[in-house]
Amino acid sequence: MAKKRVAIMTGGGDCPGLNAVIYGAVRVGIARYGWEVLGVEDATRGLIDLAYAFPHGNQWLTLESVRPILSRGGTILGTSNRSDPFNFVVRNADGTEGTIDVSDRVVENFKKLDLSALISIGGDGSMRIAKLLIDKGIPIVGVPKTIDNDLASTDQTFGFDTAVQIATEALDRVRDTAESHDRVMIVEVMGRDAGFIALHAGIAGGADAILIPEIPYRLEPIAETVKARRAAGQTYSVIVVAEGAKPKDGQASVGEHKAGAMPRLMGAGMRVADGLGPMIAAELRVTVLGHIQRGGSPSNYDRVLAVRYGQAAAELVERGEFGRMVALRGGEITSVAIAEASAANKRVDPRGQLVSTARAIGVTFGDE
Ligand code: F6P
Repeated sequence: MAKKRVAIMTGGGDCPGLNAVIYGAVRVGIARYGWEVLGVEDATRGLIDLAYAFPHGNQWLTLESVRPILSRGGTILGTSNRSDPFNFVVRNADGTEGTIDVSDRVVENFKKLDLSALISIGGDGSMRIAKLLIDKGIPIVGVPKTIDNDLASTDQTFGFDTAVQIATEALDRVRDTAESHDRVMIVEVMGRDAGFIALHAGIAGGADAILIPEIPYRLEPIAETVKARRAAGQTYSVIVVAEGAKPKDGQASVGEHKAGAMPRLMGAGMRVADGLGPMIAAELRVTVLGHIQRGGSPSNYDRVLAVRYGQAAAELVERGEFGRMVALRGGEITSVAIAEASAANKRVDPRGQLVSTARAIGVTFGDE
């Protein structure tokens, strides 16, 4: 009997643990089920154009080739957040960028390669694309990833734990220097429209203020916190600002917006510093952690979760349960419909336990 040929790809922004999912899925797929596994380059890019080779193109994965990748950050397959085949970015004759639908090419190439299934590892954008490709007849199993942890259908995405760990370590480091110089330090973290990284790292890293998109802030309560600390002899403060944080009656700080991509969030920390500076008699400094949160070796927790997701994805493919995304619920790996996964985002509950815990230990969210 012919071997089953399964493709695997990573889409959207990278995050620690992508390689660990590939490792888990490939080991189960090859060693247990005898598959051939094709690693697709740069999300759907490698299926839109089979000659695409930036830098190496699609590659057949083996037990040997995935052996060293478990602990490696990034993704050996490359990724892209501008490879939506339904809105594929092209350059117009006048030099501007536009989008076209090349999804039929993905379907054709999937057949040409004689593939029987695709494992798509990605965030909400990748799951939305997966859902549309399923509707065009491609059998897909999804695996949720994002450092933002903003997918409602899974308790946790892999990559989040590592990002929180990195942000927490940054807060610890920044506090030392804040204390030495009697400064107010602002640390901007990622998370898009969700404040999970800021909230978790803020609590773990002992922040005095945590500003998240779900709780619009005013500067006055933050200034009051800084002043009260100074009056009590704590001459420094640490403020963690989620990149999507917004002032009451204001919007998130947005930078460039390229065709086929989400607008870039930038400037949230600087905006707080600019507003707060004149209100307090202290020096301010801003640190933007940026992509440092996305690189590096995954935490133990993320490695274990990622390998479990990889195994579960391979098993769904083997059982022919397509249109499903693996998920973590109550500590157990299960699966949900990709349609459901792509529809529902998760946000910090402003009335939830974690926000209450932070408030109880004296953290301000800038709202009261
Ligand atoms: O969704 C993951 C994420 O890291 C967000 O936290 C951040 O806003 C965005 O991706 C950054 O994307 P890019 O790598 O395109 O700058």
